Amino acid sequence: MLFNVNQLLISLSRTLDFAEKDLLPNHINHGMRVAYISARIAEKINMPYKDRFDLISYALLHDNGVMASMRKLDIHGRQTTYNVESDPVHCLEGEKNLAHFPFLSRQKNIVLYHHEKYDGSGPFGITGMNIPLYSRIISLADYIAIRYSEGKGPDAIKNSIMKDACRFDPDLCEVVFGCSAGILSFG
Ligand SMILES: [Fe+2]
Ligand SMILES: [Fe+2]
Repeated sequence: MLFNVNQLLISLSRTLDFAEKDLLPNHINHGMRVAYISARIAEKINMPYKDRFDLISYALLHDNGVMASMRKLDIHGRQTTYNVESDPVHCLEGEKNLAHFPFLSRQKNIVLYHHEKYDGSGPFGITGMNIPLYSRIISLADYIAIRYSEGKGPDAIKNSIMKDACRFDPDLCEVVFGCSAGILSFG
């Protein structure tokens, strides 16, 4: 039987997007959108095609650990609703879950560090270029996708990124701003 990795990826991503939307109603097609924005950034920095495949795979599955966060219960045994994106549990669980996924060239800690901040104030304290490139791209794409889902337009998203600039790789921000009509508006 032939096994189609792309179909598996899309199926997993759609399932995750539905699950994440239950917890975070603003997250519409979140994995798909993060993957699309990541792909656009990769295109602008001339990332080799082979690497783009893996970047898009990681981007589609970057929040796969939300399932673990969803199982969190409050002191009364009820499921809690909270912002899973701010809980590093989903980074840890997500990294573990992808240990056997057939990437073309596996890289360590992409999902683990997808919420690291460039200035080192993220959950694991990793700074600047010590954060893997894919994680830096996914972090920025994630931020843009969430603002877009909140109904913000390109100018408002750009202003938000500038306000939170310490979180992001400045070179990647320049790439996004340099073609803002294309990336910030999903055009
Ligand atoms: Fe996340
Ligand atoms: Fe996310």
